[in-house]
Amino acid sequence: MKIKGKPHRTIWPGADGVSVEIIDQTRLPHEFVVARLGTLGEAAHAIKAMLVRGAPLIGATASYGLWLALRVDPSDKGLADAGAALMATRPTAINLRWAVERMTAWLSPLRPAERAEAALRRAAEICDEDVSINSAIGAAGLPLIRAIAVGKGRGAVVNILTHCNAGWLATVDVGTATAPIYAAHDAGIPIHVWVDETRPRNQGASLTAWELLNHGVPHSVIADNAGGHLMQHGEVDMVIVGTDRTTATGDVCNKIGTYLKALAAKDNGVPFYVAAPSPSIDWRVRDGLKEIPIENRSAREVTHLSGRLPDGSVATVALTPEGSGAVNPAFDVTPARLVTGLITERGIVKASESALRELFPDK
Ligand code: MRU
Repeated sequence: MKIKGKPHRTIWPGADGVSVEIIDQTRLPHEFVVARLGTLGEAAHAIKAMLVRGAPLIGATASYGLWLALRVDPSDKGLADAGAALMATRPTAINLRWAVERMTAWLSPLRPAERAEAALRRAAEICDEDVSINSAIGAAGLPLIRAIAVGKGRGAVVNILTHCNAGWLATVDVGTATAPIYAAHDAGIPIHVWVDETRPRNQGASLTAWELLNHGVPHSVIADNAGGHLMQHGEVDMVIVGTDRTTATGDVCNKIGTYLKALAAKDNGVPFYVAAPSPSIDWRVRDGLKEIPIENRSAREVTHLSGRLPDGSVATVALTPEGSGAVNPAFDVTPARLVTGLITERGIVKASESALRELFPDK
């Protein structure tokens, strides 16, 4: 996607040939800062501290993290230890395991001396594949938005609600939930996006809003609690969210608060779609509620907030009384029965085991 007219991805090999570069997402939307990752430890830290985040981008960063590790120690043990270190960073997004297992399967049959170079090539392939998957999700989701636009009549605006950031910043490029949104906007369909601020880390307010603004897509940031009210008043035509892990049966794990939006959508007859690239589907898990590990993050993300002061500096302030406890589960599970459909790179499918298996017989 373009920033000030210049095309960017979220991750790319450094020009020095020994590093990878990322956009430091902890600095957005106030500053655009590129960070250099030169070691496995720096790649693992970037994932854990959320300099990079979003399921597909976590997987892509892990792939490059393996390359950085193999440059130092290409042995079988080096490969296994690096995979374990990366897998320990964040537990919920399945793309991390998908990328590490895939890279390991490619690299372990090779002689150690060949591994680093192959890892660099394979990491780039994983990134390119992510971009083509997301573009295909855009093409698959566009007719849904077009149909709503046609139904509403000429010139009417289609209002789409999204939660968290499942945009290009959460992927290598294009985004998942935003792919149909960008496709519709670029096709000239009048759209407007309700952007859930997405407490506690505010990925909607700081990242999705920044992306949409840069791309010229009309949008309004709303408090997380506003969605149900807007749905009751006919102000939301559809919901599109991303996923950190979708089970083989169609349960969707995504950013905390997604489930409440799905409940409100069901109660108000608003279609609730999930953009689900196949690397985000965990074919080994059937019961999302019981089997998906939910990341618990620091209470400080709930009790404190960062923002820009009038002088341009960024400051962190406390929100809660000193001494109050806080808990911070980062994801929740939306049962398949609340999902209208999964928008995958192979088309739109019902959130059910039989439909998913039929669309992906090779998985
Ligand atoms: O904690 P984050 O910011 O990594 O969570 C991101 C989300 O929940 C996204 O909605 C999800 O990863 C889908 S990204 C295409």
